[in-house]
Amino acid sequence: MCQPVTSHQTTATVLFNKQLTKTQYLLRLQADNGVEEAKPGHFVHLNCHPSLTLPRPFSILDSDIEQGTLDIFYQVVGEGTQYMAGWEAGFATTMLTPIGCHFKQPEVGSHAFLIAGGIGYAPLDFFARYLKKQGVDTTMLLGLESDPPFELTSSTTPLLPFEPITNPLSIVRQDSLGIPSRLSSLQAKPGFFQGYVTELATAILQKMDSEQLGKTELFICGPTPMMKAAAKVASQFNITGQASLEEHMACGFGGCAGCVAPIKDGDSWSYRRVCTDGPVFDLKDVVWDKI
Ligand SMILES: Cc1cc2nc3c(=O)[nH]c(=O)nc-3n(C[C@H](O)[C@H](O)[C@H](O)COP(=O)(O)OP(=O)(O)OC[C@H]3O[C@@H](n4cnc5c(N)ncnc54)[C@H](O)[C@@H]3O)c2cc1C
Ligand code: FES
Repeated sequence: MCQPVTSHQTTATVLFNKQLTKTQYLLRLQADNGVEEAKPGHFVHLNCHPSLTLPRPFSILDSDIEQGTLDIFYQVVGEGTQYMAGWEAGFATTMLTPIGCHFKQPEVGSHAFLIAGGIGYAPLDFFARYLKKQGVDTTMLLGLESDPPFELTSSTTPLLPFEPITNPLSIVRQDSLGIPSRLSSLQAKPGFFQGYVTELATAILQKMDSEQLGKTELFICGPTPMMKAAAKVASQFNITGQASLEEHMACGFGGCAGCVAPIKDGDSWSYRRVCTDGPVFDLKDVVWDKI
């Protein structure tokens, strides 16, 4: 079990809050504390409005230690995120940050295979750029049914061991760093794989030889059905992995057990807190059929 990071209560001042699609935004916050410790997989618990008793959890998309900023990529789904959508530069609130257990870095020489669904892109985008700096071979797949929130480009990065898409598109945030990324959608879209992102992952893994498979580790974040499917893919190819889980949260600091998920514990399992025992867990430890 991981040792969760020490969190800080801090002010959070909006530097910008850019609308990316009809319902998705990129928020940059200036924070007094807790930026330096933020690692991919950590999240913030953000106070959205005085009328809401509980803060709302969001993965950290990026951090800039020199500037003291954290980025969040969020989707408007209810009251709290609706308030956030109205924030303008200069608006100040408070948050607890960073929270939880981050992704454990695979060894240099291994292949990090990142599989994101929708807004689950946030922690994996941060992780992809972190891994690149650490010299870990990284591939990113993103299943996307909404309009693309981030700029896409004709891919300049070859996908190993084979290319399943004709004239593939990539995400500029990854492609510009030399990280191969590919997109999938259930709709037929030029440059996308048509199908579930886990089907795209399967198509690629099927072409890997045993040495490539042996070096590959999955990192997943997205809607629960997608993560369950990705866990099956990992088991089918006998590869290890980590998943960042999403659960409804209350306190955000391990005090209320309002966020639990079923996690293996020896031959049995028990409910663990997603906020401080996670949100990142080993794929093999999550009891997927009880989530
Ligand atoms: C560790 C973690 C990281 C997250 N990272 C991001 C992120 O990077 N970007 C992002 O947009 N969202 C993220 N979420 C989900 C985000 O916290 C919820 O969308 C947000 O709390 C909704 O608040 P609301 O007041 O707008 O909606 P509410 O009015 O509270 O709820 C609206 C709808 O969203 C559902 N919902 C609320 N909270 C959650 C939750 N925690 N998990 C799943 N469904 C929920 C409700 O069931 C309801 O259907 C994350 C959640 C967790 C636990
Ligand atoms: S939200 Fe209270 S223990 Fe996790």
